[in-house]
Amino acid sequence: MRLRQCSNVNDFRTLARRRLPGPIFHYIDGAADDEATYRRNTEAYERCDLVPSVLAGVETIDMATTVMGQRLAMPLFCSPTALQRLFHHDGERAVAKAAEKFGTMFGVSSLGTVSVEEIGAAITTPKMFQLYVHKDRGLTNNMIERCLAANFDVLALTVDTITGGNRERDLRTGFTSPPRLTPASVLSFALHPTWTFNYLAREPFSLPQLKDYVKQGTNVAISVGDYFSTMLDQSMNWRDAEQVRVKWGRQFCLKGVMSVADARRAVDIGATGIMVSNHGGRQLDGSRSPFDQLAEIVDAVGDKIDVICDGGIRRGTHVLKALSLGAKACSGGRFYLYALAAAGEAGVEKALGNLRGEIERDMKLMGCRSLGALSRENLRFR
Ligand SMILES: Cc1cc2nc3c(=O)[nH]c(=O)nc-3n(C[C@H](O)[C@H](O)[C@H](O)COP(=O)(O)O)c2cc1C
Repeated sequence: MRLRQCSNVNDFRTLARRRLPGPIFHYIDGAADDEATYRRNTEAYERCDLVPSVLAGVETIDMATTVMGQRLAMPLFCSPTALQRLFHHDGERAVAKAAEKFGTMFGVSSLGTVSVEEIGAAITTPKMFQLYVHKDRGLTNNMIERCLAANFDVLALTVDTITGGNRERDLRTGFTSPPRLTPASVLSFALHPTWTFNYLAREPFSLPQLKDYVKQGTNVAISVGDYFSTMLDQSMNWRDAEQVRVKWGRQFCLKGVMSVADARRAVDIGATGIMVSNHGGRQLDGSRSPFDQLAEIVDAVGDKIDVICDGGIRRGTHVLKALSLGAKACSGGRFYLYALAAAGEAGVEKALGNLRGEIERDMKLMGCRSLGALSRENLRFR
């Protein structure tokens, strides 16, 4: 299979699997424990059906949305994900450029492999920075200050990663950052010489948001689970989150809210958005899916704060279903990461293009000229 033959997320996944050494592929593809939540995140969308309207005059449609003050040309954006230069040597540079081309938001992770300064200078479209609150408050504050200077628009404080999830595929493959050759993985690296050449011959791996403060992750190999469990501040509470919001002073959201009570507290501390998310099933397996939680959260806080449905999105219809329940936008990781691994910037462009095409076609088939026309009236649960 080649890039131009990739019609859907699963096609990109197939290509990514072929291009990447096993430990890297499974880091993207895997999730926690039995991966039940990971599967459920997408299956939840199949539990309800769209009810279209016809004869609605849909020659031109408008899929723009505004979320946390950011105008997005399409209602799906790229969630922040770690370690992107391991998936393709262009990493965040490729995703940022592709997102810019489609007028949508790009999230840079605290564990990103390109600096916030470079991304800030590279694109003019909305930028989100994802913050992990570290035990080292100097590091946490430094990241906030750098993102302010680099003109990031939105800060997303991730709150579902207070300790590392049990990602058993990573335990099995011995995946670490930076990658380490283990007896189990050496064959896999040898069998993917293009990836291995690019990794060794191009710009050395680094985590520019962290490297002046910690060796772990850049110079000292560590599993991502151990990084979370040892480096992040497990005492983080609502007061800390509010202090981050005040220090940031711009659009601010909590990423990983799943309960109505927490959504209400997010409003109380002055957040302007929440990402309803279980981290793509990579943290608490058995957690409910964002789509299943969406209606009650929208009902409680949807008039006060922008609600984003994160994770499990594999089709344009999934986006339309989430928006019908009241989400302002959707976001996801793997849908563009497989494509990044498959073909760099061209891959992410194709993935976003496919999904934009699906959303456009599905809106027309739904008889819906703008996203505001979607409502619970056009959705039925079985
Ligand atoms: C490989 C990978 C790395 C991720 N890294 C981060 C991260 O550094 N910070 C974060 O808040 N979420 C991270 N996430 C979670 C994503 O932001 C997003 O919540 C998740 O991918 C949504 O599920 P989906 O992949 O089914 O779309 C990561 C996800 C993946 C797949």
